[in-house]
Amino acid sequence: MSLCGSIEKGRGIGMLYINDLTKNYGSFTAVNHLSLHIPEGDLFGFVGPNGAGKTTTIRIVCGLLRASGGSVRIGGTSAAVGSKVMKRMIGYVPDFFGVYDNLKVREYMDMYGSMYGMDSRDIAKLTDDLLELVNLSDKKEEYVDTLSRGMKQRLCVARALLHNPKLLILDEPSSGLDPRARVEMKELLKNLHSMGKTIVISSHILSELSEMCNSIGIMNRGQLITAGRIEDIMQQISGGKRMHIQVASGMESAVRSLKEQPGIRIESVRENEIIMLFNGADEEISALIGLMIQNQVVLTGFYREEGSLESLFMQLTGGGAQ
Ligand SMILES: Nc1ncnc2c1ncn2[C@@H]1O[C@H](COP(=O)(O)OP(=O)(O)OP(=O)(O)O)[C@@H](O)[C@H]1O
Ligand SMILES: [Mg+2]
Repeated sequence: MSLCGSIEKGRGIGMLYINDLTKNYGSFTAVNHLSLHIPEGDLFGFVGPNGAGKTTTIRIVCGLLRASGGSVRIGGTSAAVGSKVMKRMIGYVPDFFGVYDNLKVREYMDMYGSMYGMDSRDIAKLTDDLLELVNLSDKKEEYVDTLSRGMKQRLCVARALLHNPKLLILDEPSSGLDPRARVEMKELLKNLHSMGKTIVISSHILSELSEMCNSIGIMNRGQLITAGRIEDIMQQISGGKRMHIQVASGMESAVRSLKEQPGIRIESVRENEIIMLFNGADEEISALIGLMIQNQVVLTGFYREEGSLESLFMQLTGGGAQ
């Protein structure tokens, strides 16, 4: 099966095109005909349970692993995956932070800048700017190995931005971070997104992604199950939106009014509350409220449950890690 994430509708030009990507390890298929197009300026969340194939996909896109089939294109160029041109377009934050014995933060940035052939004065200037961006200015002369995990992650982001890549790809940047460090990482990514960077971030923590990403792709067992804007994906949650209607008086009339409407399924009627499933648009919901008021129902509350990404994720992936 090949499913192409159609998240480009009416939005910016494409930044990352993954077409029919496959990766086999012997007879095991880790990535199975994956197609995904990510527009410029997106903050895209790549979600899937352990073993889904996220890291494998990311490593192929970054040119660190050879695909068994399919293609990857970035920013409209036809440069080959893994080529120098392509690598310059990507800033990659891996899911592990290496060991850097006796290397200070400044030297770490310097080393990576030199690897991109950058001028030492440019590196020094950018190091100051980037360390400020990731809130590590005061750590410039500290040894990398003495930084906390959250600081190392932020340093890794700063390093990945040194060569001003078009696309920033982060593999599980929040794993192992405490709640405060997670929030800091999220704020940093949102900040970079608002500066216009295209960002792809992988995680299996859905709630975290839903708060910062504008679109997501859900991967399971090597396949992309669905991809799109968060709102559109939420719409896919089966059974419609769950609504709670609080009624002070006129309960019978309220239930009758609702039963007459098509597309409504009443789940339960309690003393003061009706819970129902309805997939109507906002105008239809407001017409429904109007109708009940006309029918002498006294409403004291009305709210719509937000569908949970977690429940969608469990529905789509069957809940299983590989
Ligand atoms: N070098 C390898 N040889 C054999 N199988 C591998 C190799 N690398 C990865 N795999 C397998 O490919 C599958 C996908 O792994 P991958 O690391 O891409 O998953 P992931 O979605 O990143 O998971 P996680 O959330 O745990 O990081 C797994 O079943 C893994 O065991
Ligand atoms: Mg992984």
